[in-house]
Amino acid sequence: ERKAALDAIAREVQACRRCRLSEQRTQAVPGEGHPDTEVVFVGEGPGQNEDRLGRPFVGAAGSLLEGLLAMVGWRRDEVFITNVVKCRPPGNRDPEPDEMAACAPFLRRQMEILDPALVVTLGRFSLQTFMPGDTISRVHGTTRPIDPATGARAATGYAMYHPAAALRQVSLRETMERDMAAIP
Ligand code: URA
Repeated sequence: ERKAALDAIAREVQACRRCRLSEQRTQAVPGEGHPDTEVVFVGEGPGQNEDRLGRPFVGAAGSLLEGLLAMVGWRRDEVFITNVVKCRPPGNRDPEPDEMAACAPFLRRQMEILDPALVVTLGRFSLQTFMPGDTISRVHGTTRPIDPATGARAATGYAMYHPAAALRQVSLRETMERDMAAIP
């Protein structure tokens, strides 16, 4: 039942024209993973590889994320992985507030279906969505209550840096490893 509901959302995302990001995408990237997982990872938005393949975190940042998951004994198909915006912002620019607002109902419905125990935010846009007002350098590696309006009504939030940040700044990699190891 959950899988069917998630698949229905994915089809809507693939056909979506609610914002300008739909105009330049190759493919929308709804997200993927185990429908019965307790843990959802939410990134920012698709990059070039994701846009080409229609799957989240399949480029260099994805490899890093998979390595971090393996550290705690998880495979990507055992959790659910999605993004705040489902279409690639051109040139990997930051998503705009109206683009995040246009996409928010999809993320909210995914959360309502998955009803996770833990939402791991990757990067500041995901953090802002689930735990507004916090800054990543202050709260990474800690749990926070989640805004129930996001649809994740019973979840705890756990903030992490974005894997792409650890690719740019090598010192963050150790921080991310520590934060992953401390996931509740
Ligand atoms: N970065 C993200 O935020 N999401 C992806 O899916 C890939 C890279």
